[in-house]
Amino acid sequence: LRIRIVAAVALVALALTLSGQRVAAQVHESSNIALPVGYRSWQLISVAALGPPFSDIRAKLGNEIALEDFRRGTIPYRDGAIIVRLAWKQSRDSQTNSALGREPQLQGLSPDTIAKDLSQSFEAGAPTNVQLMVKDSKRYAATGGWGFAQFTNGKRDVVITSPRDPRSCFACHVPAKATDFVFTRYAP
Ligand code: HEC
Repeated sequence: LRIRIVAAVALVALALTLSGQRVAAQVHESSNIALPVGYRSWQLISVAALGPPFSDIRAKLGNEIALEDFRRGTIPYRDGAIIVRLAWKQSRDSQTNSALGREPQLQGLSPDTIAKDLSQSFEAGAPTNVQLMVKDSKRYAATGGWGFAQFTNGKRDVVITSPRDPRSCFACHVPAKATDFVFTRYAP
């Protein structure tokens, strides 16, 4: 019996070590990026929305360095630039929708057409998560000079940051290489 207990303890310890290693490999260097103080007051770069199953609304904000680079079209972005992507679940508000139903452009249309139009009318509901890209060309040289991080309810999520992992943040941003791995364009 004693041998069995020892073997079981050893197995659990091995499993813990292995799972710990996996998490450590995924966290990589983005693990120490914090949510920047005051980011919610930063200026708007642009907005986006994703259909099902995400069904969200997104806003991209930037600090002063990022905003200046976006407006001037400076590529690559300078060290210190930070882009924050906020996202909310799409939500419908009956008060807003009934007011929108009185839009002059909708008058004369059939109730069905109006209902269809309003079924695509959304506003920001519950927040989902916040994603960050922080430019530091030396520190994050392996991922295009950008550090990536994600937060849910203000707490940092474990994200795959290893540049060789196709599921990583960086790997999916590679198609935007010509614009320094940034997809978003400034919306004037
Ligand atoms: C499946 C591909 C994909 C993955 C994985 C991905 N992104 Fe993105 N990301 C995009 C696309 C496309 C956009 C532009 C459209 C949008 O905002 O939804 C974007 C936009 C962004 C932006 C706004 C700046 C920009 O490039 O437009 C930030 C910040 C961002 N992503 C951070 C992250 C972080 C952090 C992760 C990892 C946790 C991540 N992304 C993973 C595809 C991806």
